[in-house]
Order: sequence, then structure tokens, then C-alpha cells
Amino acid sequence: MCGIVGYIGKKPAVEMLINGLKALEYRGYDSAGLYISGEQCVRSIGGVDNLYKKLPKGISGTAGIAHTRWATHGKPSEENAHPHSSPSGSIFVVHNGIVENYIDLKNALEEQGSVFSSKTDSEVIAHLIEKQIKDGDTFEESVVNTLKIIKGSYGIAVMNTQEPEKIIAAQNGSPIVLGIGNDEYFIASDVSAIVKHTKTVLYVKDGECVVITPTSHNIFTINLKPLNRKTEEVVWNTEQVKKGGYKHFMLKEIMEAPEVLKNSARGRTLRETGDVKLGGLEEIADKLTHTKRIVIVGCGSAYYAGMLGKQYFEEIAGIPTEVEIASEYRYRTILQNKGTVVLAISQSGETADTLSCINEANNKGCLTIGVVNVVGSSIARAVDAGVYNHAGPEIGVASTKAFLSQLEVLLLIALYIGRKKNISSSEGKIIIDEINKLPQKITRVLAQNKKIERIAKKYAHSKNFLYIGRKYSYPIALEGALKLKEVSYIHAEGYGAGEMKHGPIAMIDESFPTIALIPSDSVYEKTFSNIEEIRARDGKVIAIATQGDKKISAIANDVLEIPQSLELIHPILTTVLLQLFAYHIGVHRGHNVDRPRNLAKSVTVE
Ligand code: F6R
Repeated sequence: MCGIVGYIGKKPAVEMLINGLKALEYRGYDSAGLYISGEQCVRSIGGVDNLYKKLPKGISGTAGIAHTRWATHGKPSEENAHPHSSPSGSIFVVHNGIVENYIDLKNALEEQGSVFSSKTDSEVIAHLIEKQIKDGDTFEESVVNTLKIIKGSYGIAVMNTQEPEKIIAAQNGSPIVLGIGNDEYFIASDVSAIVKHTKTVLYVKDGECVVITPTSHNIFTINLKPLNRKTEEVVWNTEQVKKGGYKHFMLKEIMEAPEVLKNSARGRTLRETGDVKLGGLEEIADKLTHTKRIVIVGCGSAYYAGMLGKQYFEEIAGIPTEVEIASEYRYRTILQNKGTVVLAISQSGETADTLSCINEANNKGCLTIGVVNVVGSSIARAVDAGVYNHAGPEIGVASTKAFLSQLEVLLLIALYIGRKKNISSSEGKIIIDEINKLPQKITRVLAQNKKIERIAKKYAHSKNFLYIGRKYSYPIALEGALKLKEVSYIHAEGYGAGEMKHGPIAMIDESFPTIALIPSDSVYEKTFSNIEEIRARDGKVIAIATQGDKKISAIANDVLEIPQSLELIHPILTTVLLQLFAYHIGVHRGHNVDRPRNLAKSVTVE
């Protein structure tokens, strides 16, 4: 949670930092602050705009660090906003992550006379660095020695008034990327903050530190051993991180679905043979194909994608698969052994619980795989092998396009394995043809946007919603309900359609609408009966059905349609309808759908 930016060069740092923070606001937006070398430290509650308004005119310093916060320790307030400074005001620190032993450290420092001005865990870092310098350390030594004392996770950037032309940054569990421009250097939590200025980056790894000055960058280990790391070129462009003419990032990112599905599958399907090519899995293909068990881990939407992944893996790849909520899986007795493949799904690649499952699986000798969107993220680096989503940066806090691409990538992985086992070339071709038709079919689905908006307005006053679906549609019902909760704050429950009469049907009356996923599939008749049960109790039904389904139009109050397709493709098509429905209800109710209250984009705390 939280975003860091640092700049050192020839231009006024304030503009670089404010723009960088704006790009990172999705990581947290309850308070923000910056320190400009030789000038001042300004902090404010609320978003980056509030900080900007508070800045005095004429700040011209060319080096600085900045932070946008999502509170973990200490409520959102000016005192708790970063940067935090040391008692004498010589050290300024911005920190992402959690210092787990901060209470012990703080108590010890207070006994020695330190006075703390915030309730955060982060402030101890500034105090400790200053203490080390007083004890004779150089600036670099003071930082690494402090990092050896603190327990937990961090991405930090530090400045020292005694060495104003230097920023030291370090990473352990919370990402730091170094950007290299012309006579200027950047530090950031992710590339979206700096891609406008440079595409040449170096992803700092856990246990590494970097020092930047206006003319140089050095990277070294926490033991001060110099490292020679190669830079990389980022492929994202600045347009990708702007709204592209849409009112909200959420809408833009839903509307990107055709492009996203193209990109996630680009170069990965071989139509002639019905095969899938996944470079990231080549080296482990044999182990993966012969595994007896896959465990999928993820949180929130990623977990729901995993529920569909389980069905794909069992049906297409023929491998028994379990899907687990990462925050549960990591704390209970788990029977995983070397033969188990643990697959993590994560848009950000930074979700603490998911990362922890992967670390644990690595320790147990399991083969670990990632389905990750953010290149170079912690999970992407922790796994043995993986497949990137290539969905591009997702700025809207509620996942839309990344979720969609997760479904497609899981289908590709299932087919990749299935083709090496018992899926014939002709069966493979049928699935690949449908995957290749997805962008065009999803464009037809998105064309119902106006109709969805009308229906959304009609139901926007409802206090509750039930989402039902069976088989492939069940995980999508759960995801649809989650999306509505997140952006509209309306209570919504997702249920297996067959489970409805075991409880939730008691809630149904004319004021409690149901979204029923009923594509023309092998469980159509069963779901149809469930809809009849709801209608018999005066419940309103918005059906998501296959084009040309006359039977459903006769019973449902409203119908949205997907084009004909293979049964296993239906969930990908229905997903965007539910995303648009949630979007319009959220907007109609006046909410900031890009940044729903209480949420942050990447959950790097447990
Ligand atoms: C829901 C949503 C969250 C994330 C979850 C996992 O819209 O965005 O439920 O899916 O926090 O995040 P990642 O995929 O980054 O691990």
C-alpha cells in the first residue's frame, strides 16, 4: 500500500514528484507529503491535490522524495503522513510496508530520549538512521545498518540534509524501481510514476539498495557489496496511464477489453496445431504436465478467477486442482509437497498474502507459477515460472481488465497442458478459434453499454442484489457481486444458483433484484428453474443470456446478451456486462468508482 516517488536532476523536483504521486494515488490516497532538498517538508491529509494546494510558491529545489499513503499504523493525519523526519530534522524517510518490530524499537529509542511525532511504524526508520550517523556511520552505512535492525517489509527512500544531492532507496517486499533519464534519476513504487520521463528502468530486488545523485546511480546489497545490474526498457507508454477520454479509469479499462484479450493471447496460440505457446512455462513444462495436483492461490477477484481456473485445469488439463483464498491458505495446515504445483494469481504481483503462499511453497520445494500483470513485481520474481497477463496498467482500484485477462490466461495455461496430455489437435483448434474470436465478440457485448446504463439506473435504488450462476458462471456471479459492492456500496451476494433455495431465497421479494447468469450451456435448464423460483416470489430478474434466447425474455424483467460461443468462453463474455452494470450503478449513486472508499489497489499488508 502507499506510493513512493523520488527525483534528483536539474529540473524543479516538485513538479516531478506531484505528477509521480498522482500516477501512484491508486496505491493509497488518504494523505500525502514531500520533502524537497534544502527547502521544506510539506504533508497534508487527503489526496495529492490537497498536498499541491498546500505547497508554498517558489519551491525550486531539484531533489526530493514524496509519498502517498494508505494508513496501516496510525490513522490518516498530517502527523502520520510521510516523509517522517529524525529528531534533529536531518533525515527524511518515505516508507511502504510494515516495520513489525517497531514497538520494541520505538520503546528503546524513547528510553534513550527520542521523542516521536507520529503514531506510525515508519518513523523509527528516520530515528535509527540518524542515530547510526551520530554513532559514526556514513549515510549509506546508516541506512543498511538500520535495515538490518528492522523486521518486516519495506520500500524506502531516504534523504539527508548533510548530503542534499543524494537519495538512498532500498527494497524488501515492497517494490522500488529506479528510472534513469538524461542527467536525472527517479525512484518509484512502480513505473507508472516515471514512464512519462524515462523508459529505462532497473527493478531493485529484495535486499538491494540504490543511491542516486544528479549524475550517477549505484546499486549494492544490504552488505554494501556493489552490484552490476542491467537496465530494462519499459513498454508501457504515457497514454496507457491516462484516462484516454473516458470519464473514469474504470470505464476506460472495461472498454479496453477487446485489446486486452488480444494482448493476453498475442503470439500464444498456434491455430494450425491447436497448441498454445507459453514461453514462461517452457522450462517447467514437463513437471507441470505430470503434476498430480495444482493449488491456485489468490485474493478477491484473483481468487474468483482461480475458481474458474480450477474448472479449466480439471476439464482441459485433467489435473486435480484446488483453489484457496491466500489469506486462509497461509495460516492452516497445508499438505503440499514437492509434487504440488502452486499457482498464484495477482494483478499487482504485490499482494502480501499471495506472496507469502508462494514463499512458503518455495520453501517446501513446490513448483511455483505466477499469473501476474505487473512485470517485475514481487510475485513475478518469487515464482519459478509464469505467464504475464499483458493487460497493461490497471489504475481503477476495482479490478476489471486484469480479471478478464486472468480468465483468458488460465484458459491458455489449461490448454497448454491439455495439449500435452489428452486434448486432441482438433479439440485444441476449436478452443483456439473461440479465443481468437473473443475480441470481436466482446466488442458486441460492450456495444450494449447504453442499455446497461438504462437498466442500471432502473435498479440503482435497490439496497440488495443477489447474483446467481452455475458451473462456469458461478465464479462470475461471485465476482459480479464483489464488483457491485466495491463501487456502489450496495450489499450484494453471489451464490451458486442451485444453492439459492438452501437459504438465500428467503430474502427474495419485489425489492430484492437478482442478476441471473444463464448463458445457453449444459446447466441452462437448471438455472432456468431457479429463475422461475425467484419470479414466483415476485423477485425481479435481470438475466444475462445468449443472443436469441426467446425463452428467457418471456420470464426475466430485463435481459442482457452475449453472443453464441463455447460454454467455457461464456464467463469471459458475461464478465464485462457485470463490470459495466456495477460501474453505472456506482456512477449513478455519485461515487468515485475509480477509488472506492476504504480500498487500495495493491494490498501489501496481511
Ligand atoms: C477487486 C479487487 C481485489 C483484488 C485483490 C487481489 O476488484 O481488485 O479483490 O483482486 O486485492 O489483488 P491482486 O490481483 O493485485 O493480487
